[in-house]
Amino acid sequence: MPFIRFVREERDVKCLKGANLREVALKEGLELYGFKGSIGNCGGCGQCITCFVAIEGGDKNSLSPLTEVEKIKLRNRPSNWRLACQCLVNSSLVVLTKPQAPPANCQNLVQEALSKVLPK
Ligand code: FES
Repeated sequence: MPFIRFVREERDVKCLKGANLREVALKEGLELYGFKGSIGNCGGCGQCITCFVAIEGGDKNSLSPLTEVEKIKLRNRPSNWRLACQCLVNSSLVVLTKPQAPPANCQNLVQEALSKVLPK
């Protein structure tokens, strides 16, 4: 089973292969949304673009391919950003939630998360 390492939260969460990244995060009680998304989001339809995550470490195959919605909505965003609601987990990965508002020590947290081996 894949593990999702949430950088900001410093948590490793096990999930089923094919699990929806948004649903896993919410089920675990993680704060996926910024202010705008927390007061109103589309519920996972890919329309509100408030569920941004950054995939760290460069393994793009750890998630399902970009959906057609993401190709449009993420056009002007960094190439490692995804919409959590559109992502199915293929294999273990490292994720930064709310990359639009990174923590002050973001680079250190990411480097530390990437340096540790994910559980199998
Ligand atoms: S929850 Fe609205 S785009 Fe992901």
